[in-house]
Parts: sequence; C-alpha cells; structure tokens
Amino acid sequence: MQDAISVRNLVKRYGAMLALDHFDLSVRRGEIFGLLGPNGSGKTTAINCILALLSYESGKVAVFGRPMSPTAYDIKRRIGVVPQNVAVFNELTVRENIDYFCSLYVPKRKERKQLVDDAIAFVDLEEFSGYRPGKLSGGLLRRLNIACGIAHRPALILFDEPTVAVDPQSRNAILEGIRHLRDAGATILYTSHYMEEVEQICTRIMIMDHGRQIAQGSAARLKDMIDMGERITIGTLDIDEATLSRIQALPFVAQADFDCKELKVTCRHGDHNLADVLDILHSSGTDFGHLSSQPPTLNDVFLELTGKALRD
Ligand SMILES: Nc1ncnc2c1ncn2[C@@H]1O[C@H](COP(=O)(O)OP(=O)(O)O)[C@@H](O)[C@H]1O
Ligand SMILES: [Mg+2]
Repeated sequence: MQDAISVRNLVKRYGAMLALDHFDLSVRRGEIFGLLGPNGSGKTTAINCILALLSYESGKVAVFGRPMSPTAYDIKRRIGVVPQNVAVFNELTVRENIDYFCSLYVPKRKERKQLVDDAIAFVDLEEFSGYRPGKLSGGLLRRLNIACGIAHRPALILFDEPTVAVDPQSRNAILEGIRHLRDAGATILYTSHYMEEVEQICTRIMIMDHGRQIAQGSAARLKDMIDMGERITIGTLDIDEATLSRIQALPFVAQADFDCKELKVTCRHGDHNLADVLDILHSSGTDFGHLSSQPPTLNDVFLELTGKALRD
C-alpha cells in the first residue's frame, strides 16, 4: 500500500538559509508519526511544503501516492491541518468557526451539522460553543483550533505543535484525542519539540535538526542506537572511596558518582544488571534506601547524536 506521505530529497531555502536539506519522509497509513526537533529545525517548513503552501527548490512530495501541488484539491480535501499558530476568526463563535472551516470541504449545511456537533464533542467544547475565541483560555483555543482542522473527517491530519502553551490537563486530552483519531482510521503526522509527548503517542519518530533527518524509528529503536544505557539512582547516606571505585570499574559502568546522598550510575548500552551494583554495596556493608533505574530518554538520543540538548 502506498504511503500516506512520501517526501523525497526536498530542498527548501529562505534566501541564503537552507531550511530543508535533502529531507526525506515516509509516513505509513494508519500510523501516528512523530517529527521531533528543536525550534527552527524545519518542522513547520516541512509541513508547509507537504501541503504545497510553500514552493521549494527541488524534491518530490506525494500524498496517498499522488503528486502534491497547490491545485491538487482532491488530495487537499482528504487532509486536515492543525497549524502551529491558532488560526480562527475572532468575530465568529466556536461553532461558527468550526462550521466555516468544515464548509470549505463540505458545502452542504445539512451534512455539516452532524460533523460540527461531533467535532465540538470531540474536543469537549460543548459548553463554549456560543463563545467567541477572545473569551477562551489558551488551552480551549488550542482545542478549537483542532476542531477546525478535523471536523471534515480527513484521512490524513497534520498537527504542528498543537500543545505549545497548553496546561497539562488539556495536553493529555489532546494527546488522547489524537489516539482516538488514529483508532478511527486517520493517519497522523505530529510535530513537537516535546520528546515525552512524541514518545507517548507516536509509533515511529524522526529526529530532525537543521532541516535534516538525524535518526528514525520507534522510541525503543532510537534508544538502542546510542551508547548510553540505563541510569541507576540509589539513595545511601555514605559510600566509601573503595566501594565507589569498585562500582566505577564494572565493565558496563560509564560513570558513577556520589552526591547529595545519592549514588548515580550511568551505564553503557546493553542488558545490565542492577544486581551487580547491589552486590558490591552488600559486600561492602553499605546501607541503601530507595533505588530506581531509568532507561535513556529521547533527549539522551538527541544529545548523543547531535552534541546538544533538545530542550531550548
Ligand atoms: N518565512 C521565513 N523566512 C525566513 N526564514 C524562515 C521563514 N520561516 C522559517 N524560517 C527559518 O527556517 C528555519 C526552520 O524554521 P521552521 O520550519 O519554522 O522550524 P520549526 O517549525 O522546526 O521550529 C528556522 O531557522 C527559521 O528561522
Ligand atoms: Mg514550527
């Protein structure tokens, strides 16, 4: 089956600035694909090129197997967009805004009624349907922005950082909603610079930086690509130098430090045994309390592959 989105060798410049540098992307039908990159890495530019809203120097974009162009209206009808900047009309109510955007795809008012009702229910804005956007909080505005993008039941939905400046509760509702859209059959391209979100909902993730793909795969696969493994934290009142040295000498230990009543051990990639560290603590008679082991994060992946942190 053809990919929902296929981007090949895309080059996009803004003047002398290279925003997409031979960029490739394949999004399979039915998946939630995450485009993860810091601010300025080219996520929005990629989305706008896919939608043929921006012209580009070279490369090819196909959506559902058909070449994308500014006039490919039959394909555009099957796409929903939730833009990074909330784009709604301030003089229209919540319901009127959703109805307006839906009318661009579904001209018959009667057919729209149910779609608009469903979209309002989907983002849980029933009690605000008569409000104008100016009266809505940031989180509610984001939800309206989403409803406007999805009311016409698109087969492919592009979400461009839909949770920026959203409170945690609304954020969870949005992420949950995106999962439901996928379960109902939609394909999702989701961009974010929040690694936790991308990890939470995406089946596959591309890490990008400077308009280029850095790495791609499931979160587990991405973490497998780096040298860093789990981080072990053990609460202990004190640890003597000899014991710390023995832990540091374990073959899988990259670094071990004792600070603020915590022993922190960073391991190398691979299957490791917390038990080896605990054995040393036992044999040296070191008392310890809480302990935890954390797998690497996508930030660790980004850090190791690019030399800088993902967070800005
Ligand atoms: N209209 C524009 N004119 C000039 N430079 C732009 C324009 N839009 C984006 N850029 C630059 O292109 C790069 C990629 O931007 P963008 O696609 O918005 O990244 P992201 O969405 O990942 O934050 C950034 O360096 C940004 O400053
Ligand atoms: Mg952006």
